[in-house]
Amino acid sequence: MVISKNRVIFVMGVSGVGKSTIGSLLSQELGIPYFDGDDYHPKENVLKMSNGEPLNDHDRFGWLASLNQLAKEQVINTSCIIVCSALKENYRTIISLGIEVVSKWVYLYGSFEQITKRIESRLGHYMPSSLLQSQFEILEEPKNALKVNVSLTPTEIVKKIRKELMNTSEFGLFGLGVMGKSLSRNLANKNINISIFNRHVDGVEENIAVDFKNEFEELETAKPFDDIENFVNSLQQPRKIMLMVNSGKTTDIVIENLLPYLSEGDIIIDGGNSNYNETKRRLDYLLSKNINFIGTGVSGGEEGALKGPSIMPSGDVEIYKMVAPYLNAIAAKDANNLPCCTYVGKEGSGHFIKMVHNGIEYVEMQLLAEVVQILKLSGNNNDEIADILESWKNSADSYLLDITVKVLRKKEGSAWLVDKIMDKAGNKGTGNWTTIATAELGVPSTLIPAALFARYSSFYKDDRVQLNNLYGDANTSTLNLDTNDILKAYQFSRIMNHFQGFNLISEASKKHEWDLNLSEIARIWTNGCIIKSSLMIELVEILKETSNILMDKKIIEQIKDLKSSINIVVLQCVLNELSTPCLSESVQFFNGYISKNSPANIIQAQRDYFGAHTYQRIDDPSEKFYHTNWS
Ligand code: 6PG
Repeated sequence: MVISKNRVIFVMGVSGVGKSTIGSLLSQELGIPYFDGDDYHPKENVLKMSNGEPLNDHDRFGWLASLNQLAKEQVINTSCIIVCSALKENYRTIISLGIEVVSKWVYLYGSFEQITKRIESRLGHYMPSSLLQSQFEILEEPKNALKVNVSLTPTEIVKKIRKELMNTSEFGLFGLGVMGKSLSRNLANKNINISIFNRHVDGVEENIAVDFKNEFEELETAKPFDDIENFVNSLQQPRKIMLMVNSGKTTDIVIENLLPYLSEGDIIIDGGNSNYNETKRRLDYLLSKNINFIGTGVSGGEEGALKGPSIMPSGDVEIYKMVAPYLNAIAAKDANNLPCCTYVGKEGSGHFIKMVHNGIEYVEMQLLAEVVQILKLSGNNNDEIADILESWKNSADSYLLDITVKVLRKKEGSAWLVDKIMDKAGNKGTGNWTTIATAELGVPSTLIPAALFARYSSFYKDDRVQLNNLYGDANTSTLNLDTNDILKAYQFSRIMNHFQGFNLISEASKKHEWDLNLSEIARIWTNGCIIKSSLMIELVEILKETSNILMDKKIIEQIKDLKSSINIVVLQCVLNELSTPCLSESVQFFNGYISKNSPANIIQAQRDYFGAHTYQRIDDPSEKFYHTNWS
């Protein structure tokens, strides 16, 4: 077998381009079976065509579905070639449904005059050349196909197809850090032919791609490179190259390094944690160079990347469709077995929602840290805390809860590892960006800044130690909380966190006209990602009805049930001098957000007093602005 993995090669084009000739020659050359799509037309279609009547989409549907069935059956055991006109994008979608990743399209093209001449010179072709015009009218040229001009001889065409499809990879992975390596293995495990690249730095990064390939069986057919030009040339056109490199400057440098070797229509996918504004800038820049760009959030860490991450791509929807089969193949699956990958929206919206995902993640992590601290100061050891958290899985299951239990149980010898970890929390910047975005958009997602600043405060270890010497330890003598109240307070805060996160996405969507589907975003976060949870599963349905989850009947009931517990927990923490920034902020935010009358009238009066900034009056419905001479 010449082809390393089973593939269906579809040879398409209008009637008269010589599809059958090419199909059968290619079949001989590669030693794989060949099927002529025309043989699968029902009798009614053949009759219509020979009577000079064009087929409508209804006529075609059954035919396309039977070709899809044929392809699916064949590819289980062998590669094959199927020739058919497949002039429209949706015809091709039907034909390759469910086998997108293993479908290769070859488009034989020529001008109307060229093809007319060919048809006129062929006897016995059952389609009159007068119908060619209608074919050209409906033809939607495929973007995702190997284009071959029919002016070449059949032998040259076959040679070109063979060279392009057999010797090249379908997908390129640039950057073999932890995530890049895991994604490469994931792609290879899905039977995708990949090329992998890692830069060469003398004495520091040498033979990374080759060594990595040799380490894992599934990478047997992967092509390893440390030379950019060879890497790019090893890919089928339009090329699909996923970057898994550091965000920021490195991403720009890598793009510049790639550009000289790319061709019009190639696609770069940025899978790093890039800033969404930079993604928009890169998209516009690359468009000016006729290169396509998809910015995608990828969540799930090393394990997720290997077994199935949550993937959040954005950009031009047509370009997305060309990479979707690969991204869907490697994504985690939701409860209905649908990929946790969806087209998010235009511009950098994929990276925007990944950024908010991380903001939600920061808060979920901080809440767990606060809960652990409360439980610890209540007299539980790490194993006991782990037991308590584990028992919460019935009502508050999440990936982060699960790993926290494992973290707490981990021992080094007879001591708990977690107790030896320096209490300074790092960050890579996404929480910072989310905080900036929420402030810029004027959206009160207050928990994310609270979690971020808790990390920043933790970093001031020296100051904390010095001040502790001056002010003394917290007096936790009256700390006496019921575990169930702590669970309920935790749940309350998590609902606020998710409300704020989705509200931020919703407001950004309006501002940027992204038209984001909140329920679909929640759906792709039900598996594969760091913030997957039973609450997220609940939100998928809720967000179908409302973008404000606090308006949902079930959530209202839950909040009413949880409210007294968060009050008790926060109150006790304050009285016992315990810092719980996210638990506290959640209740502060909620109390303010549901109050009919806020004290903002005082702020307005103050602003008008010192700066003549004016104010509106509640006794004037015209919304007119007033100024008072206060002195
Ligand atoms: C994920 C994670 C991942 C990573 C971030 C956050 O969804 O897989 O969010 O992207 O953990 O880099 O890291 P910091 O906590 O370092 O900001």
